[in-house]
Amino acid sequence: MKRSNHETWMMKALELAEKGRLSVSPNPMVGAVVLRKGKVVGSGYHARFGAAHAEVTALCRADTAARGASLYVTLEPCATWGKTPPCVSAILRSGIRQVIIGTLDPNPKNHRKGVQALRQQGVKVLTGVLAKELEKQNESFFHHVRSGRPFVTLKMVQSLDGKIATATGESRWISSDKARKYVHALRAQQDAVMVGPKTLYADNPSLTVRRGSRAVSPEKPWRIVLDPKIKVSPRAKVFKGPQLTLRVVVHASLLRRNGNGHTKNSAASIFIPVNDKNGRLNMDELLAKLGALGVGRLMVEGGGELAWSLFEDGLVDRMVWVIAPKVLGGRNATTSVEGTGVARLARAISLEDVSCSRLGKDLLYEARPVGRKS
Ligand SMILES: NC(=O)c1ccc[n+]([C@@H]2O[C@H](COP(=O)([O-])OP(=O)(O)OC[C@H]3O[C@@H](n4cnc5c(N)ncnc54)[C@H](OP(=O)(O)O)[C@@H]3O)[C@@H](O)[C@H]2O)c1
Repeated sequence: MKRSNHETWMMKALELAEKGRLSVSPNPMVGAVVLRKGKVVGSGYHARFGAAHAEVTALCRADTAARGASLYVTLEPCATWGKTPPCVSAILRSGIRQVIIGTLDPNPKNHRKGVQALRQQGVKVLTGVLAKELEKQNESFFHHVRSGRPFVTLKMVQSLDGKIATATGESRWISSDKARKYVHALRAQQDAVMVGPKTLYADNPSLTVRRGSRAVSPEKPWRIVLDPKIKVSPRAKVFKGPQLTLRVVVHASLLRRNGNGHTKNSAASIFIPVNDKNGRLNMDELLAKLGALGVGRLMVEGGGELAWSLFEDGLVDRMVWVIAPKVLGGRNATTSVEGTGVARLARAISLEDVSCSRLGKDLLYEARPVGRKS
C-alpha cells in the first residue's frame, strides 16, 4: 500500500527513534523530524534515559528554520516538567506551525495534555499517523506504563523434544554458537534478566552481556535471581561484577533470618521480599515491584518451573524459543515448561503472532501467548 506524505515522514521519525532501542528504557524510543518546504531542516531522537527529548534536539538543529515549519514526532510531546523541561514550550517558542504526532502518551497524567496545549496556542495538530507501527515499536514502554509491570520476554533454549537439560541436569550447550550470540544481543536490550532457583544452583550463571554484544551501562541489565529460601552461595557468579543483583526471597524467610547478619543488603545484592502464593513466590507481586523500580523490559531465562508459573498467571508477553536439532530424551530431563500444566486441551495456552526463522543450525521460534494480562 502506498504511504501518504505524512506517513513517509513519520516513517523517517520512526527510523530515528529506533536508534535509542538499547539505551532509553524504561523511557520510550522517540524520533522527530522538522520539515520546511519539503526539506528536512532538523531531526533528532531520544538517545539515552534522562537525555534531551527527540523534538527538542530536532528543533535545536533546525534553529530559525523551524519558524512556520512542520514537526513530525513519534510520541505526543510532553506538556509538563520531567527530567527535562516541557517539550511543548520549546515547540511554541520555535514558531512551528503544524505538529504531526504518531502515538498519544499512554500515561493518564499526560494523555492528550500536549495536544491540548499546542492547539490552545493555535498550532495545528494531527494525531495517529502510523500509530499501529509506532505502538509496536514501543510495546515495552506502552505495556510498562499501562500495567505497571515490565514487558516479559521468556527465552528458552531446548532440544527438538522439548528438553532444556539432560536427565543428569547438563544444559551447556544445547544450542549453536550463533544462537548463544543472539541471546547475548537480546540481553543487551533488557533492563533486567531473571532466572529461577534451580537454574541458579545447577548452572551458576553470571547473566552478563558478552559474546560481541555490549550492555548500555556497566550496571545493566540488572540480574534478578529467585532465591526464596535464601540458599544461594554468596560466592555465586551472579554476585560478581558491577551489575546490580536483586535477590528475590519469600517475606517469611527474610523475617526468620533477620538479625543473624546474613540478610543485609550489600553492594553486590539487594533483597526483594515477596509474599508466597500457594507455596511459591507471588510473581504478580514481584513484577509490580520490578515495574515500580523502573524495570520496563525483563527477560526470563528459565527454568521450566518458573516458565509455567509465569504462563499460569498470564505474565508472559513474548516467547523466544531457540530449538536445536538434537534429541535428548529422558523422562526425568527438565522440559522448557514444567509445573502442573493444563488438564484439558481446551485449556491449552494458545499462541499468536507466530514467526519462525533460522539461527545457524537452530530454529528461532517467536510468539505471543493469547490471553496474556495487559
Ligand atoms: N536450556 C535452557 O535454556 C535452560 C534455561 C534455564 C535452565 N535450564 C535448566 O533447567 C533446569 C532448572 O529448571 P527447573 O524447572 O528445574 O527450575 P527453576 O525454574 O529454575 O526453579 C524452580 C524452583 O523454584 C522455586 N520457585 C519459587 N517460586 C517459584 C515460582 N513462582 N515459580 C516457579 N518456581 C518457583 C521452586 O522451588 P520449590 O519446589 O523448592 O518450591 C521450584 O521448584 C536446570 O537443569 C537448568 O540447567 C536450561
